[in-house]
Amino acid sequence: MGLDIKTLVKKYDTPLYLYDFNRVEKQYSSLKEAFSGKKSLIAYAVKANSNLSLLKYLAKLGSGADCVSIGEVKRALKAGIKKYKIIFSGVGKRDSEIREALERDILLINLESEAEMERVEIIAKELGVEARISIRVNPNVDAQTHPYISTGLRENKFGVDLDVAKQMYIYAKKSENLNPIGIHFHIGSQLIELSPIKEACEIVADLVRSLEAIDIDIRFFDVGGGLGVVYNNETPINPTDYALTIIRAIKGLDLTIVMEPGRYLMANSGIFLTKVLYEKRNGDKRFVIVDGAMNDLLRPSLYSAYHKIEALQKDGEKSPADVVGPVCESGDFLGKDVPLPPLDHGDILIVHSAGAYGFTMSSNYNSRDRVAEVAIYNGKDYLIRKRESFSDQIRLEESCDSTWID
Ligand code: LLP
Repeated sequence: MGLDIKTLVKKYDTPLYLYDFNRVEKQYSSLKEAFSGKKSLIAYAVKANSNLSLLKYLAKLGSGADCVSIGEVKRALKAGIKKYKIIFSGVGKRDSEIREALERDILLINLESEAEMERVEIIAKELGVEARISIRVNPNVDAQTHPYISTGLRENKFGVDLDVAKQMYIYAKKSENLNPIGIHFHIGSQLIELSPIKEACEIVADLVRSLEAIDIDIRFFDVGGGLGVVYNNETPINPTDYALTIIRAIKGLDLTIVMEPGRYLMANSGIFLTKVLYEKRNGDKRFVIVDGAMNDLLRPSLYSAYHKIEALQKDGEKSPADVVGPVCESGDFLGKDVPLPPLDHGDILIVHSAGAYGFTMSSNYNSRDRVAEVAIYNGKDYLIRKRESFSDQIRLEESCDSTWID
């Protein structure tokens, strides 16, 4: 990132998330350019990293937002993302969330069931508005990725079958309070094969054609997110091939292509920094105990996800070690059998590819303060989230009346 990590660690301490905003821009532009000449909208998947400064920066680049809670919608709006570029998705929306999304007049509410359509229609009627909707279809293709992040098969909870979707469109078209203008699918995350994307696009484009034949004009073709990145030695999909695949599938249709990348923009635009507390051995097994833990970066524990880990400026013969945190769980590790040189108290480890689903999945488990986030932009560092303090942690408990216990 062009800055001295040691200096940054001295200034901000560890554990710490560090993001390269110039790289975020590069990723954003590479995708936007791949679709140049076509109507396209990048609706960044806020769940990957919802820091307000990041969203503000993405708003400046022209990005929209794909949100899965009203909290994410509010973050996006607060950061200056235009309401006509915001999509609200998710399998379960509370009435209050639907109401607020309608009141805030965002681009689309993405429906995932008939029951949800009913709720949106009722609430839109109460408000006297017409809800712009899209329907998430489940194209039943195998995304060929980790089962926890595969979403496009009938056995997953997401979306509706194609025939159900068609009936929903027909119903919505007749309703005075629903305006069906979008179609959506998302077959999974960390996709590194083009063929399932091609298959899904073709299936969904056919549905769009059959809707057109009955006078239902879809304007937004939302292919979801899921573009894979390099964590280890994967060969990711090239944005130009991705664009060509989608453009070919919708040939002859006048559609704005919507994408919802999260990981593609953020995963390798961020690192997680942690300090060595000490080393220990249990029998033959070497452990490096660090100050970062599963509550800060959950992906290794939750999905056995691989994140490359390196020691900063440290020589010596490498031997395998499990990098583990202080949390009281055997599953608390950041890496297993990581080749590392002998380490001393205070040495810094860099955990790579941590910009997506890192901080957003963090928690206060074991009453640990959530960590600070820092952005690097044009060679300068900016604090974009303060490290939590103990008083931040207990604020909402302390402010409750507890005299009844006395
Ligand atoms: N759109 C929809 C409808 C999604 O469900 C997701 C991710 C995305 C877009 C963004 O996917 P991306 O481009 O970032 O792959 N916590 C997991 C990932 C869960 C993804 C959930 N949905 C992880 O750490 O890998």
